[in-house]
Amino acid sequence: MQKSSSPHALIDSFGRKVDYIRLSITDRCDFRCVYCMTEQANFLSRDDVLTLEEYARLVKVFVELGVHKVRITGGEPLVRKNALRLFETIGQLPGLHELVITTNGSQLEQQARALKQAGVKRVNISLDSLDARRFRQITRVGHLDKVLRGIAAAKQAGFENIRLNSLLMRGINDDEALDLVAFAIAQDLDIAFIEEMPLGAVHHVRRDSYVSNDQTLGLLRTRYDLIASPVCTGGPARYWQIPNNKTKIGFISPHSHNFCEACNRIRISCQGELHLCLGREHAVDLKPFLRGYPNDDGPLKQAIIDSMQIKPQGHDFDLSRAAPAVVRFMSYTGG
Ligand code: GTP
Ligand code: 5AD
Ligand code: SF4
Repeated sequence: MQKSSSPHALIDSFGRKVDYIRLSITDRCDFRCVYCMTEQANFLSRDDVLTLEEYARLVKVFVELGVHKVRITGGEPLVRKNALRLFETIGQLPGLHELVITTNGSQLEQQARALKQAGVKRVNISLDSLDARRFRQITRVGHLDKVLRGIAAAKQAGFENIRLNSLLMRGINDDEALDLVAFAIAQDLDIAFIEEMPLGAVHHVRRDSYVSNDQTLGLLRTRYDLIASPVCTGGPARYWQIPNNKTKIGFISPHSHNFCEACNRIRISCQGELHLCLGREHAVDLKPFLRGYPNDDGPLKQAIIDSMQIKPQGHDFDLSRAAPAVVRFMSYTGG
């Protein structure tokens, strides 16, 4: 692929280079994970989210500003109608090195092959439990079988990499860390453990459900000889490896090991708001620039460049507070 011709324009006031965007193309999801949303989730009306053409334009503009990696998220991105068309368009952009997706896996059985053909390099798939009953309890409505078939289809499709994302909750699935890693190894996949973040008000107390990744790492060390890996996938995970084993075991630890200092990413919500930090309110609405200047990318580009000045230094997640750090649910901002 060609390299972007423009110099890197996206540098924030702390000198951090932003070259990774996470684009949410829907707030809807076919699951209702207990840590992500409430049972009676309120989704946006279809008229309130951007069109696929508007997402494609946004991505093109970000790539022209020096972004190399685009992750499509949701909600569940694959429930957005005709999502594949967007992947096909973005996959052809010169200058984009990595088109990747985060999904709950429910639609992969049908869509994995086409996503690979559209140019998706890597896939991250949420998997919090290998026990069907428990899987349903966590997702409220999801079927483990379907996701396992989705994982098999993704393997079959031949992506460069597949990573499982597992979020452990005390008393719910924190006894599954070893089994999940054993599964990842057996399937020749990577896995990352994610500490639960206080986004949106859910039905449980996050201070009580919190499982520190240090604890999980300690548990895994009782079975495996783990060596810190220098590999970086451009996201917040820090990886460990078992000697002579391909599986990378990642830890995304916003609470126990803050990673904001090296932040290289921003998010675009399905409504076109640019969120400069997952754990803060700082945002710029890009929709007026998209719709007000349909044939001129200049104002949109300038708004994005200017937004770098308000990118905060980091989140202030504090589990001792009863209120969530931000009122947005993860499903809205796209993780
Ligand atoms: P790779 O490209 O494979 O490194 O993926 P990634 O970790 O960047 O993406 P993924 O969508 O799999 O995200 C895994 C978890 O990391 C999700 O819970 C995200 O919300 C979280 N995450 C990603 N970026 C940030 C961030 O900047 N801050 C915080 N607090 N969490 C993040
Ligand atoms: N804290 C941390 N991770 C979360 N995810 C969803 N909600 C939260 C939360 N509150 C994770 C999912 C998925 C990824 C996109 O975000 O498990 O793997
Ligand atoms: Fe859907 Fe992902 Fe949220 Fe679960 S975590 S409800 S799969 S958006």
